[in-house]
Amino acid sequence: MKIAVILGTRPEIIKMAPVIRELERRKADFFILHTGQHYSYNLDGVFFEQLKLPQAKYNLEAGSGSHAEQTAKILVGIEGVLQEENPDIVLIEGDTNSILAGALAAVKLPIKVGHVEAGLRSYDRNMPEEINRILADHCSDFLFAPTEKAKAILLGEGIPEEKIFVTGNTIVDVVYQNLEIAREKENTLDTLNLKPKEYFLVTLHRQENVDNRARFLSILKGLDKVAEEFHLPVIYPIHPHSRKMMTKFDLQPQRLMLAEPVDFLSFLQLESNARLILTDSGGVQEEACILTVPCVTLRDNTERPETLEVGSNILAGVSPDTILECSKAMLGRENNWQNPFGDGTAGRKIVEILMRGNNG
Ligand code: UD1
Ligand code: UDP
Repeated sequence: MKIAVILGTRPEIIKMAPVIRELERRKADFFILHTGQHYSYNLDGVFFEQLKLPQAKYNLEAGSGSHAEQTAKILVGIEGVLQEENPDIVLIEGDTNSILAGALAAVKLPIKVGHVEAGLRSYDRNMPEEINRILADHCSDFLFAPTEKAKAILLGEGIPEEKIFVTGNTIVDVVYQNLEIAREKENTLDTLNLKPKEYFLVTLHRQENVDNRARFLSILKGLDKVAEEFHLPVIYPIHPHSRKMMTKFDLQPQRLMLAEPVDFLSFLQLESNARLILTDSGGVQEEACILTVPCVTLRDNTERPETLEVGSNILAGVSPDTILECSKAMLGRENNWQNPFGDGTAGRKIVEILMRGNNG
């Protein structure tokens, strides 16, 4: 069985790493197709190096562009590679434009599609990711749902049960596999002059937040309020897209420490030692939950409702007062929740299921 692993952005590289590791361990016949959606070293190359992933056999170098431009370029590029390589299955992860293109190119050839992290829904169609997830799921033959909740969503949309496999989320695997290594690495906190549990960590990059001046400004005001209230540093490793929008909108947060995006091990150090994490990232909501660090989500909804249910996360929206109130509320909670995303064996389970090749 020949497997094409398609990825293109930071979170896909990180979350696909446990699957790739397992494919390597089993000496499976596979290759990586990188779409090139992310190309800056600190969003791409650093993760291949740090997670010791084999080089991509193909890089489409699609780069940035409008949604249509980017998706179309990737779609055409992937189709060419798939026609040449003729794999038995295409594996995709998550909800980016890269994976939508991967799913569409494959399903029409037709080649079977396996979707890692299937069944997530925010029910917010303003998010490009929501459209990508729904379409990718409905093109897929193997849907690897991280939780029973995600499986129930897929069943509710009419996807046959024999296509759905609850495996846990590969983010647990990658966190467990790297946390010890991160602890032994040179300490990023020292470099940034931070003390354990005496700072807040922020990430913010979602299009619906940073492409809208009023929303971006409101969130930054909220973060300034939090910094002022607690007299603690708030560190924000800023995604290049958010940096660009901050400059375009002439926004100048008063009390935030801006930094370049960091590598995965450094980010794990920053997360695990933070007093509180404030984010609009999907992966970071999960990691905060796994690392038992309280999380405030700077959005009106989440496709990770499990984090709300176990009490690791709260939805703050974008109003400055609510962001402050939610931060206070989370700091008052006991950090004794159970991680709902699995036991760190998702990568192994996914590969086992693929090798069995049985989805009805
Ligand atoms: C994409 C995904 C988003 C995911 C995020 C992970 C879509 C629709 N969005 O958003 O779901 O959460 O990746 O980080 O697929 N840029 C660089 N260097 C790069 C890549 C991008 O500087 O390597 C800048 C460019 O200015 C570019 C902008 O970021 O225009 C947006 O990049 P893009 O890949 O379109 O979307 P992300 O915001 O990264
Ligand atoms: N991350 C990182 N360095 C950073 C910020 C994030 O390594 O400076 C990692 C983080 O650990 C998580 C992933 O990037 O695994 C999340 O990616 P992102 O927030 O870009 O995308 P999303 O999960 O929202 O799709």
